[in-house]
Amino acid sequence: MKVLVVGSGGREHALAWKLAQSPRLGELHAAPGNPGIARLGACHPVRADDGEGLLALATELAIDLAVIGPEAPLVAGVSDVLRRRGIAVFGPSAAAARLEGSKSFAKEVMRAAGVPSAESLAVARPPCVVKADGLAAGKGVFVCRTREELDAGLEAAAAFEGPLVIEELLDGDELSIFALVDGETVLPLAPAQDFKRVGDGDTGPNTGGMGSYSPVRGADAAFVEEIVETVHRPVVAELAARGTPFSGLLYAGLMLTADGPRVLEFNARFGDPETQSILPRLDGDLLDALLGAATAGLRGVSLDASDRAAVTVVLAGGSYPEANDSGTPIAGVDAAEAADALVFHAGTALHRGALVTNGGRVLDVTAVGETVAEARERAYAAVELISWPGMRYRRDIAGAVHV
Ligand code: AMP
Ligand code: GLY
Repeated sequence: MKVLVVGSGGREHALAWKLAQSPRLGELHAAPGNPGIARLGACHPVRADDGEGLLALATELAIDLAVIGPEAPLVAGVSDVLRRRGIAVFGPSAAAARLEGSKSFAKEVMRAAGVPSAESLAVARPPCVVKADGLAAGKGVFVCRTREELDAGLEAAAAFEGPLVIEELLDGDELSIFALVDGETVLPLAPAQDFKRVGDGDTGPNTGGMGSYSPVRGADAAFVEEIVETVHRPVVAELAARGTPFSGLLYAGLMLTADGPRVLEFNARFGDPETQSILPRLDGDLLDALLGAATAGLRGVSLDASDRAAVTVVLAGGSYPEANDSGTPIAGVDAAEAADALVFHAGTALHRGALVTNGGRVLDVTAVGETVAEARERAYAAVELISWPGMRYRRDIAGAVHV
């Protein structure tokens, strides 16, 4: 099997790492990939949102399966471009990816499917949440508890294109539940929790995610099944009934409120950095499962998680999430890997053979252990070995309050 992973972040590195363990994998390619992925396969200088460029590459390499990591190419229809020419793709069509690409579309689908989510509000009054309707890399949501926060949130949200969505502010623990979908059948993965705020104690602005862990206490198999039955299956059935079936990964971001679980958002792809904590726990063959979702179907496919736990700490540049960091030399990655951590590259580059920063989130350090506490200890021990000027990370990922 020849597989092409599309994207260049930590999620794609984690996907490439897990796919590389499949006995069915012949060749691994990535576009554009990153220095971490380059150690597992061949990276090609084609952008993730360049549909025609990816089609030419996939044709030339005779790719059997393309796995599209990020949301932007999905929403832009890259899956459709490849599929039209007969290439099997893991990732939804543009029509189905609207579930992530437009928050108002997602709300409409949820209403039609009877899925519980935050109530839409006609007037912006604190407390409430202001969201940019379209894609915003996790940075278009403003939680406004006071008038001042609301004024600032409305102003910041206005910087994004398109309309705003205003909804009720929900309180509770957050949980991400991912499921592989073949258009009809839903196969859930182990739950994970993400840490969205940039600062310790959930302070500061929202980011793409500063860390994750899996499993999550209380979210056992029965709980996941209940969520899949009330959230994923109705949405998958609704999209199929509209003639735009969803195939790929359906990510439900949930708030566990006192009144029960509510959907905060859908994503049409693997979450980043949750994937980095979920994949190291998987026992099964990820390539088989992704191929099943993309081609023959998921019936009979299983992808169980081991009892072990995983924790991921994101190392970001000093100005993240406001600005990226580039060209700063990174020290200590080899030492962290030697300490038994997985170091996934999220925003790195090679400059004259040396590893340098190249993005907002730069590295994801993942460790596995018998318990979340043990995995956490190992992850932070490895983090201590890595450094560059300005490097920042949260010190409370998977900390005591969360597990
Ligand atoms: P989203 O991109 O919609 O998941 O929003 C990003 C983050 O904003 C979520 O992970 C929550 O932390 C927060 N958020 C979104 N919607 C709400 C809501 N209705 N109530 C409280 N917090 C929310
Ligand atoms: N970690 C949140 C996301 O991938 O959207």
